Amino acid sequence: MTLRVAVLGAGAWGQNHVRIVASEPGCVLAGVADPDPLALERIRGVLPRCRLVADPHALLGGDVEAVVIASPAATHPALARAALAAGKHVLVEKPLAMDVAVAISLAELARSNRLVGMVGHLMVHHPAVIRLRELLRSGVLGTLHYLHSTRVNLGRLRRDENALWSFGPHDVSMIDLLLDRAPISVAARGQSVLQQGIEDVVFLTMRYETGEMAHVHLSWLSPRKERRLTLVCSQKMAEFDDVGTDKLKIYDRGYDRPPEFSEYSQFLTIRDGDVHIPQLPMQEPLRLQFRHFVDCIHSGAVPDGNLASAVRVTAVLEAAQRSLQQDGAPVGLAL
Ligand SMILES: NC(=O)c1ccc[n+]([C@@H]2O[C@H](COP(=O)([O-])OP(=O)(O)OC[C@H]3O[C@@H](n4cnc5c(N)ncnc54)[C@H](O)[C@@H]3O)[C@@H](O)[C@H]2O)c1
Repeated sequence: MTLRVAVLGAGAWGQNHVRIVASEPGCVLAGVADPDPLALERIRGVLPRCRLVADPHALLGGDVEAVVIASPAATHPALARAALAAGKHVLVEKPLAMDVAVAISLAELARSNRLVGMVGHLMVHHPAVIRLRELLRSGVLGTLHYLHSTRVNLGRLRRDENALWSFGPHDVSMIDLLLDRAPISVAARGQSVLQQGIEDVVFLTMRYETGEMAHVHLSWLSPRKERRLTLVCSQKMAEFDDVGTDKLKIYDRGYDRPPEFSEYSQFLTIRDGDVHIPQLPMQEPLRLQFRHFVDCIHSGAVPDGNLASAVRVTAVLEAAQRSLQQDGAPVGLAL
């Protein structure tokens, strides 16, 4: 069964989607749309026979079965809506929308039209994150106390999104997958250094009904690239470092409570045990994400990174944006 897939938006990131779709067995790249002639020229250079159009709507008719949307954030809701209304399965880049009501209406449209809708929450397809989810669910890490995530670098500035909306979907979706529940309150503080009114750095805190806490540091104004998630649990601690070569480390470290002790200083003893580095399959998360999208189209399964989980992510980011505007006042969530 060959799936005909079009890519809408072929800029810096969309080119990667074009490469993946064009080289994925069982798929045909049915066309690429981008209003920028230079973007289309670049694609023509590598795929001379590909159908190239300026207007994305030109690819929403005919025999295209699925679309990947990699246009600027502000265009995602309208393009996703048009594609779903035209009966196409949709993989849309993050953020799905910057308004939770819009995200809900898109999730509802996909559901009622029986179409696969997925958001490019890339991290939920990363083999290290999937392993972390298995470890948490199996209980080997013990009870989760808190998570800390860092996504910083000296990188591309965006004008239409702040660091919260540009980077935050990755961390919030990853934490949503691991915890499988939404926070009950969110607080965020940030700073606009380079462009007035657009936060380059954001510190986001999420609290959960069961007591856990998650903290996320997002910035494109930082000297070093860091992509790190640390889980501190009662039995073990785990660290996912997406920049390093050893992506995942499990630390047998923590505090133990001996059953008996004679001095108060022995009430809690430090356990400084081994560090285990699990073997992980070396596969490109963007390809795994696309493959998952295709598999769900064929099987009818509900994907990881589906629109319902994207609604939760949008709700968290929307609440965080409100908190940012109130200089970090906690904002409650009822999801
Ligand atoms: N998942 C990830 O890790 C990741 C990484 C980078 C970017 N992204 C996301 O991908 C999206 C695109 O980012 P980018 O860095 O490629 O931006 P970009 O500005 O480099 O490219 C966007 C492209 O979309 C085109 N475009 C504009 N309006 C369009 C429309 N209506 N229809 C089709 N194309 C249109 C532009 O001409 C441009 O070529 C953003 O939402 C961004 O957040 C995701």
